Amino acid sequence: MFPNHRPRRLRTTPAMRRLVSETAVRPNQLVLPMFVKEGATEPVAIASMPGVVQHTRDSMRKAALEAVEAGVGGIMLFGVPTTRDAVGSGGTDPNGVLNAALRDLRAELGDETVLMSDLCLDEFTDHGHCGVLDAKGNVDNDATLAVYAEMAVAQAEAGAHLLGPSGMMDGQVAVVREALDAAGHLDTGILAYSAKYASAFFGPFREAVESQLTGDRTTYQQDPANIREALRETTLDLTEGADLVMVKPALAYLDVIRAVAEISDVPVAAYQVSGEYAMIEAAAANGWLDRRRTILETLTSIRRAGADVVLTYWAVEAAGWLREN
Ligand code: PBG
Repeated sequence: MFPNHRPRRLRTTPAMRRLVSETAVRPNQLVLPMFVKEGATEPVAIASMPGVVQHTRDSMRKAALEAVEAGVGGIMLFGVPTTRDAVGSGGTDPNGVLNAALRDLRAELGDETVLMSDLCLDEFTDHGHCGVLDAKGNVDNDATLAVYAEMAVAQAEAGAHLLGPSGMMDGQVAVVREALDAAGHLDTGILAYSAKYASAFFGPFREAVESQLTGDRTTYQQDPANIREALRETTLDLTEGADLVMVKPALAYLDVIRAVAEISDVPVAAYQVSGEYAMIEAAAANGWLDRRRTILETLTSIRRAGADVVLTYWAVEAAGWLREN
């Protein structure tokens, strides 16, 4: 009698489906990225990321507490400075917006959550690149490393548990590790943006941090066509001392997440970026997608691909849904 095999049997009841469900998303695996704007007295809405704001130092503290109460695993902080210069001084300044915000949050939350910070210059430079420029206007890899080292120590001193070097400079993980160790920050870890692509999906983020960039990042971020290169970058970051490795963006790079997960002996993170957020919010606002189902489906897919940790702007809301389920 045909068919001999009936996979539908395992889908007959909710209880049966629950029993054989392979992939779970837990709130503690989600990380909430947050923006804090220097000098802001009111939270400022980000038009291309409905529901996400640039926080004041105060509203950030409140939102961080809510995130911890919701059970999210961590918070990734980005700073939006009022002034920028060629070398991104606001990033190394202990009183720069990001370092000040880290200090606030560490004082408020102690070790109750994992506090992470973006270690990159694009928010702080007046040209918007992730590093400093040479005389010809190209991003100068090794001169940038020196700034990252200084920035790393400032962030560790401000209270970050994990630093996220995201500028895709060669040698950045090694330089950050060495600087941290030399300054005695042996327990401050590195969440390395190992496979970071020159992606159109970062579009809304540029508005979120008021980026000054003209041009693109194709001389340092990876070509979306390449996966072997992602494995090379990951291997280098592992050798240089990364505590976690990350793939970014997530949804268009599930194959990369899978491949990285197969070679990594440290936890793998994936970043569901601003454009992934905007895309689903826009479709949901038009009634074209079921918002909650779509969000949970993407998070499940990213986990299924092999990510242990997911950075997502929906972290708090998704954590609430996951507790209900
Ligand atoms: C670099 C950085 C970017 C993002 C995270 N870290 C921007 C870029 O590389 O262009 C993008 C995150 C997002 O789009 O949500 N500081």
